[in-house]
Amino acid sequence: MKYYLGIDIGTSGTKAVCFDELGKVQSSKSYAYDMHVPLPGYAEENPLDWVFATKETIKAITKEGYKISGIGLSGQMHGLVLLDAEDKLLRESIIWCDNRAVEEAEDLRRSFGDERMKNITGNPILPAFTLAKLLWVKKNEPEIYQRIAKIMLPKDYVRYALTGAFVSEYSDASGMQMLDIEKKCFSSEILDYMDLSLQQVPRLMESCEISGYIKSSLAVELGLEETCFIVGGAGDQAAAAIGNGIIKPGDLSIVLGSSGVVFSPIYKEDLKDNTLQVFMHAVPNTYHIMGVTNGCGLSYKWLKETFFSQLEYSELNALAGQAFPLARGLIYLPYLNGERTPHLDPYASGTFIGIRQNTSQADFVRAVLEGVAFSLRDCYELLPKQNYHIRISGGGAKGKLWRTIIASVLKEPVERIVQDEGGALGVAILAMVADHTYSSIQEATQKIISVHDLTLPETLWQEPYENGYELYKNAYQSLKNYYKKAF
Ligand code: XUL
Repeated sequence: MKYYLGIDIGTSGTKAVCFDELGKVQSSKSYAYDMHVPLPGYAEENPLDWVFATKETIKAITKEGYKISGIGLSGQMHGLVLLDAEDKLLRESIIWCDNRAVEEAEDLRRSFGDERMKNITGNPILPAFTLAKLLWVKKNEPEIYQRIAKIMLPKDYVRYALTGAFVSEYSDASGMQMLDIEKKCFSSEILDYMDLSLQQVPRLMESCEISGYIKSSLAVELGLEETCFIVGGAGDQAAAAIGNGIIKPGDLSIVLGSSGVVFSPIYKEDLKDNTLQVFMHAVPNTYHIMGVTNGCGLSYKWLKETFFSQLEYSELNALAGQAFPLARGLIYLPYLNGERTPHLDPYASGTFIGIRQNTSQADFVRAVLEGVAFSLRDCYELLPKQNYHIRISGGGAKGKLWRTIIASVLKEPVERIVQDEGGALGVAILAMVADHTYSSIQEATQKIISVHDLTLPETLWQEPYENGYELYKNAYQSLKNYYKKAF
């Protein structure tokens, strides 16, 4: 039997999962780290924490005796990692949910315009993407900008530390807002605008190609052979999609992670004319559309840490179950870190509306679950209309109540699979394909993935949720000027 590692370098920690070649979990290890918020709207992490966490999790697994053939890396997207000519980190990473680059997004808008940027990169200009963050560094930290030798995404920094390969792959790189998405290369127009050369950006490859081998200087420490390879891997959303078998148009994945994501594959000919974000999928020659709400698991974590630190998530779920649907009229807008889809509004902030004398703790918890569900409906409404086969995954999907709320708000059944390792399984599958254990991603997902359960919409909740969704949408419209003034 061969063994593969899928490693997900996430926002709150890194998780490594060892799978056998049939996709069965053999061992799973996690290591947490902190996000730093030096100023409101900022979000940074230390790339050395990711490398340390990755090494610790690999060591913990190989200590159990597994001989690993290959590794796939999945990573939080859009982060900015900068190295100098001696490979030293130039600053902490500015990560995906950092919204400081609002002015820089405006600069880009003046120079390119949203239409031109969409034509090149597939997406309108957003402070959340790597490009605006890089421009922020250029304007605010010019002495650092001048010293940049290598620009990397989070998981690619871990790859660099483990293999020495300065490589990225299309799914994650297309989230930098620096690729020509149709030509599958860095846009020379954007590189020129940023005074950058191709030497400063990673070489690009497919997700299931081998990017490098474990450095011999690390093999013994990590308990790996020098023949152990790392594949291209994927951005966390494309990785989770593969791990859920979401590989062709008509498949739809909802991921309840730190962010909440609605994801569906498309082909190149359908790239134009859609209002969602567009990136490349980890399946060769496939793209995907995606709606992202920034504050999904982050909202639930914030609620727990701020008000219910003594409770476990399961207890918090049980508390929410005591409240009525629509939490006695309490509405939550999950914009703790601004909002991506549909508002593209970095100024938006988290909001509770409708607190009354009788509002209970349970109402607050339920309102958070419902507010995230409404924000996912906002994303869902923007998808091309067709019958989707919906699969739900991520930490939040473990709770039946949250799944039922989402199914009821979307008015669609949502399916879960047995293999709930999401991104880690997705990138382990990529390693299996690179190793010819399977001939394609399609074959691997068909053989490995099976359905666990189906959550149906709750009929009695649909009317309150229709009303709630209208109130939710109107609340943002009423508040958006306030958000901007108060920022
Ligand atoms: C996707 C996105 C998040 C981050 C963190 O566009 O921003 O999924 O990758 O999970």
